[in-house]
Amino acid sequence: MTATIVPTKPIAGQKPGTSGLRKKTPVFMGKDYLENFIQSIFDVVGAQGKTFVLGGDGRYFNDRAAQVILKMAAANGAARVIVGQGAILSTPAASHLIRLNKTDGGIIMSASHNPGGPTEDFGVKFNMANGGPAPESVTEAMYQRTTTISAYKILTAPDVDLATIGRSTLGGMIVDVVDPVADYADLMETLFDFAAIRAMFAKGFAMRMDSMCAVTGPYAVEILERRLGAASGTCVNATPLPDFGGMHPDPNPTWAKALMDEMFSAAAPDFGAASDGDGDRNMVVGRGIYVSPSDSLAVLAANAHLAKGYKGGLKGIARSMPTSAAADRVAAALGIPAYETPTGWKFFGNLLDAGRATICGEESFGTGSDHVREKDGLWAVLLWLNILAVRGQSVAAILAEHWARFGRNYYSRHDFEAIETAKADAMMAALRASLPSLAGRQIEGMTISAADDFAYTDPVDGSVSRNQGVRILFADGSRIVLRLSGTGTEGATLRLYLERYVAGPEGLDHDAQDALAPVIRAAHLLAGIAAHTGRQAPDVIT
Ligand code: G1P
Ligand code: ZN
Repeated sequence: MTATIVPTKPIAGQKPGTSGLRKKTPVFMGKDYLENFIQSIFDVVGAQGKTFVLGGDGRYFNDRAAQVILKMAAANGAARVIVGQGAILSTPAASHLIRLNKTDGGIIMSASHNPGGPTEDFGVKFNMANGGPAPESVTEAMYQRTTTISAYKILTAPDVDLATIGRSTLGGMIVDVVDPVADYADLMETLFDFAAIRAMFAKGFAMRMDSMCAVTGPYAVEILERRLGAASGTCVNATPLPDFGGMHPDPNPTWAKALMDEMFSAAAPDFGAASDGDGDRNMVVGRGIYVSPSDSLAVLAANAHLAKGYKGGLKGIARSMPTSAAADRVAAALGIPAYETPTGWKFFGNLLDAGRATICGEESFGTGSDHVREKDGLWAVLLWLNILAVRGQSVAAILAEHWARFGRNYYSRHDFEAIETAKADAMMAALRASLPSLAGRQIEGMTISAADDFAYTDPVDGSVSRNQGVRILFADGSRIVLRLSGTGTEGATLRLYLERYVAGPEGLDHDAQDALAPVIRAAHLLAGIAAHTGRQAPDVIT
């Protein structure tokens, strides 16, 4: 086996976004594309003598990419790679393995909730030794490296057997193929009261877990059906497939429609949940009631002390700026700090590492805690189950009590997808230019109290992130946020976030879109969405 140095040339556009480098699969499969990016990662973080974790969500090209990455790690002098059997690891499980084994980081192959397949999306991201996504300084250095790269190193060797658990060597590097599920499932047992949840299932509690033919299937079957005794068949779409069975593994009411339909049918089970391509996102639904991610974060934070892993209370709650302020009200009631960070899980890393926040969440179906450094779909599902088991109430009853106590932050996100980038940029530029003149203006019967472009100073390292999204705040507590997605692969996606606060107990039972109607109209008027983009209505509403 010899390490070959292969001459290459920079390929334009290998710039990682919020969640690593994400492109159409054929682009990733193009000559030297994967190789250049992986070499750039190793050139920046250093591979000599290091140990890494490797795994992915099982999408098309996952298996081939894993072999390339292993051979490149060996040629670059890595000491050891821990890889999930079949090159499978959910993102939270990879984060856990990085931390558990005190490794130097990990490479996760995933395009998260984007569809997979020969003509769909693929992605690669690097996580640091703390288990969390590489910070911008590191991903920027990787990008810079891709612009000057002239060669990559790869071992000429037969493929590694990734189907069999056990240790082998590749050149001078150790390859440990591990069960992708076991360590993660053990971690969950340390956080949650499995006996109480098992007793609830034994009494007939019914659940549907939709893994959307993506990575959480094996995790869900092991934890829910085997360890917790949920009825067999609780987990559906539980085999990870290269094309996710044609599903769009994005757990929201639009894409997890089958689950939504079941949960709103006469035969609905007590609880439903879905997760995304790489297992870091979750959607939870009660019988006949949808739980918005912002509400889910607030309810989890308010009840976390009921689970053994959090019985000592929370140190703080962090949410991304566009996430509703429902969690802030819980933090205030608990007398703990609330943090508002830019969009992207990596901004929670410092708060978690510094012990300032215990639970974090984003409106984009992401919730998690300091047990790993990624959001964690099954973790959220298990915390919900733990809370349901202890409180013995329905999801609907728990939400009603929550809103009666804290008030309700009506919330929705409207996505306008695949807009021509120039038009979306022009719209945001015009809106940003109008911000200084907005305060005091009346619109749709509401008064604008402030308008700005969100900037964040990290309380731990003092770093500043600017231009993180336009915020228009109203005197009655309503809020409009607009920003462009950093994870799309086609044109620009405009995200419009809408929020309105109603103090309990009056007016808590409206439909969110109805309750938000004036806020929605105000957003269209202020941003001129139709005039700039030609779009009257969103493509996806969550
Ligand atoms: C989206 C979500 C964001 C999440 C990210 C990665 O990013 O909005 O909350 O952290 O995916 O899962 P966006 O496309 O909005 O930049
Ligand atoms: Zn994901």
